[in-house]
Amino acid sequence: MKLFSDALKIMPGGVSSNARLWQTAYFCPIYSPCTIFAKRAYGSHIWDVDDNKYIDYRLGFGPVILGHGYSAVRKAVNKKEREGTVYALDNELELDVAKMLKEFVPCAEMVRFSVTGTEATMHAIRAARAYTGKEIILKFEGHYHGGYDYMLYSTHPPYDTKKRPYQQSIGIPSSISKLVKVETWNNFESLENTVKKHHGKIAAIITEPIMGNAAAIMPKPGYLRFMRELCDRYDIVLIFDEVKTGFRVARGGAQELYGVKPDLATFAKSISNGYPMSAITGKREIMELFGPGPHKVTQGGTYASNPMSMAAAKATLSILRNRDVYDRLNGFGRELMKGIKNILEEHRVKAVVQGRPTMFQYIATNNRKAIHNYRELKSNYHAHLFGKIQYWLMTKGVLVDEDNQECFYTSLSHDRKDLKHTLDAFDFAVDQALSVKIKRERMSSAEPSA
Ligand SMILES: Cc1ncc(COP(=O)(O)O)c(C=O)c1O
Repeated sequence: MKLFSDALKIMPGGVSSNARLWQTAYFCPIYSPCTIFAKRAYGSHIWDVDDNKYIDYRLGFGPVILGHGYSAVRKAVNKKEREGTVYALDNELELDVAKMLKEFVPCAEMVRFSVTGTEATMHAIRAARAYTGKEIILKFEGHYHGGYDYMLYSTHPPYDTKKRPYQQSIGIPSSISKLVKVETWNNFESLENTVKKHHGKIAAIITEPIMGNAAAIMPKPGYLRFMRELCDRYDIVLIFDEVKTGFRVARGGAQELYGVKPDLATFAKSISNGYPMSAITGKREIMELFGPGPHKVTQGGTYASNPMSMAAAKATLSILRNRDVYDRLNGFGRELMKGIKNILEEHRVKAVVQGRPTMFQYIATNNRKAIHNYRELKSNYHAHLFGKIQYWLMTKGVLVDEDNQECFYTSLSHDRKDLKHTLDAFDFAVDQALSVKIKRERMSSAEPSA
């Protein structure tokens, strides 16, 4: 809190990313919202500046698929770093990584690299508009595709508003809302109606194939295929934003898992075990639009395909090439999901546990068997119970995000000891959450406001 109070004086909100501010946390004793200062992370663990050690299920919002500081990746990066950090020229590593992506990802006929997930989806959208000559992008409520004007709509609207598209930030030109359509995910009929009505103007449908920013809501059977068919029928580019699902739910992403090939797909996070990089992949005839010249799509960046990130990606993907890795990852996650479900049942908490073993969430609901879209999520879950459980988990050295919409992420470094520790802690945390009243200290008026 001492560091956070210093940070508030010099950094707006005390953070470098709004998502790091914990809003519902029971542990922010003085300032609210607040965040933790991390000191280091290794394997499945992360330490805060007070040397509290936690089993980490946030994993930097998902990227750390192998575990923090994974030796093979670290060594590859350290070695490359001695040869320079940025060239603004091609390097052989990027060709190696592009070939691996082509091999692993069903839709990846060609590849362009960028640095963040935001950039990747932004360029994919630009390519889709260029390819179709149309301008509207259809997205879904509760899906996040990055922090730029076109996509900052209805990512997490308050559930008491039906306004769509719902603008998530001030400072976005109002005219942009005309270029966005927002649909309810998993609703076949409503999507079809909107597409039938507006297909002449819709360039792309962009979707997270599993809702990684809304408690791992899964697609209904056939829903992704239905999108594929609509896009084929109406000359619309289908974009899978696999920034969270890529290399995590399966080696070839959700498109491999569900057997549905999008026209374009974006990747980041697990592609490089936590080093900054992203990729735009897809059909050759769309991807070939990227390039210089008056009739081409602009894409670029100083740090795109920088050698250190490429070394990290090559080392990460070389490990993920081995299918046994996914057996191990899924084995751990399955047991964790099952354990959490059993504990909630034992404590008579009605809950849905949904998602994939490497990316899942539990939602304490009122008698629901499944959650299919953002509004169902927001109107059914018990945020306070989740917040309390999260708080008590922390006291036992287990770190999950305080936001029920984020997921539990697992890594190859999580082991049976972590599993036992986590489930014991979870049992304790649910018990405490149901029986103990947490005293929340009020923010003093003398303190600077966050
Ligand atoms: C699905 C999805 N797409 C895009 C992004 C944006 O990625 P970045 O934060 O690297 O810009 C995120 C970030 O969490 C994401 O979850």
